[in-house]
Amino acid sequence: MSPAADRGDDALREAAFAAMTNAYAPYSEFRVGAALLDKNGRIFAGCNVENVSYGGGICAERGAMMAAVAAGAREFTRVLVATEAAEPTPPCGLCRQFLVEFAPDLEVVSVTARGGEARWTLTDLLPAAFTPALLRRSPAP
Ligand code: THU
Repeated sequence: MSPAADRGDDALREAAFAAMTNAYAPYSEFRVGAALLDKNGRIFAGCNVENVSYGGGICAERGAMMAAVAAGAREFTRVLVATEAAEPTPPCGLCRQFLVEFAPDLEVVSVTARGGEARWTLTDLLPAAFTPALLRRSPAP
């Protein structure tokens, strides 16, 4: 990996672990932080926020994307996910779909508090994605 990518990951790591400490996860006790890097180098963080009505909870990755879009960012290069899990964890299926809307070429990094790391592309994680271009209707016969 290039030194530039390393520096980028340091800032993303810091933002993701800081967000992880703010996670609200009283039900799963699985705290997650995510940091999303936009094409201008801006970083947007999110954490999981659970709810007593369990299905109402939202993941860290979608929280980060919500913060980014609300701030006007639309193009992203990398997301870094931080957890305290035993192994690096990839984003869930819902988050993969949410991420691909804005970032089909996203790099996905997952790190653990104990130094574990895994990397994928979003295309690896969500092949044959349903993307906005596919919404086009075919012309009338
Ligand atoms: N979670 C995330 O925030 N991101 C992931 O990548 C995996 C799962 C959250 C959802 C729920 O609050 C808890 O982790 C357990 O699934």
